[in-house]
Amino acid sequence: MSEHEIEIKLPGRSYRVLTAAGSLDRAGAALGAVIPPGKALLVSDTRVYSLYGERCLCSLVAGGWQPAVALIRPGERAKSLAGAARLYEAAIEAGLDRGSPIIALGGGVTGDLAGFAAATYLRGVPLVMIPTTLLAQVDSSVGGKVAVNHPRGKNLIGSFHQPHLVIADPAVLATLPLRQLKNGLAEVVKYGMVNDALFFAWLEQNLERAMARDEAILAAAIRRSIEIKAAVVELDERESGYRRILNFGHTIGHALEAAAGFGYYLHGEAVNIGALLAVHLARLLGILEAAAADRLAELPRRLGLKQPPAGMTAAAVLEKLNLDKKRRGGELIFVLPSAVGQAVFQPVADRTLLEKLIGDYLAGRSL
Ligand code: GLY
Repeated sequence: MSEHEIEIKLPGRSYRVLTAAGSLDRAGAALGAVIPPGKALLVSDTRVYSLYGERCLCSLVAGGWQPAVALIRPGERAKSLAGAARLYEAAIEAGLDRGSPIIALGGGVTGDLAGFAAATYLRGVPLVMIPTTLLAQVDSSVGGKVAVNHPRGKNLIGSFHQPHLVIADPAVLATLPLRQLKNGLAEVVKYGMVNDALFFAWLEQNLERAMARDEAILAAAIRRSIEIKAAVVELDERESGYRRILNFGHTIGHALEAAAGFGYYLHGEAVNIGALLAVHLARLLGILEAAAADRLAELPRRLGLKQPPAGMTAAAVLEKLNLDKKRRGGELIFVLPSAVGQAVFQPVADRTLLEKLIGDYLAGRSL
């Protein structure tokens, strides 16, 4: 295995993540090494397809594939059961059989939707992820979570369906807007904060270079993030326990996203604020020493904290947190840092404390 490949080792379902720059152009051959070439369905949104569709198709055809194409609209609304039904139609039209892959070229929405279709069409066909955002490269394309939204909540209908191959080509990030780059960097920082003190220290040195799109730095950040995610998924593929560590920053983050109305915050922007508030919470609860808290808080701050929308109240955010509590059977369990590169699961029942923390953020008080 080359230094640009990471293997996700799962019983009977191991797969590789290719992280070399330019690997998009080798997609067809790389896929042919995993599945015998034949029919395939390439799913992409119209924006990403205009940037990378032709290159991807050329590579697939050169590798002996006969790809059909299904395009979706950019944006979260495409991730619906109706969107999945359109992909089933396209798969039937294209004559896909049980061995024909569905290939997702795009960000998290495309990966989740195409992945959900791959998990369910003919009771499951192979899935290939070609993530084109940093967020999708370091998180959603690896680990097998696929889902569509329901009008009453995000990702309510889904499955675990591991891909056969992931191609996380850092060169495609050249066209990613800076806001989207930072959106992914919030998840990168998360891995350092809760899993790897050395990686955190490396990010302390290199975060600005990553934001400035230094190719070598970004490629190294992507590789290390995927390695960490791989190790977590290998331990707990179905999130029966330990994998929840990856939800660091997400408890408050999801509540902020929901309270603001989906679309105001990018996912990573909300997670970044959630991570900073989790650091403060851990310090106030006596789980985290002051010096470690100061260090940990610095990276979310350096990424930049998005301001809340006008009129958002702490009560509205708490209400969304309580919905989360209901979903988990009564207790709100946070992932909180206990040291640089380590985290614990901690039930938190102190509503006043949570209200104060969220209120501090909403009021722009120094965090
Ligand atoms: N995004 C968290 C996970 O894949 O478990």
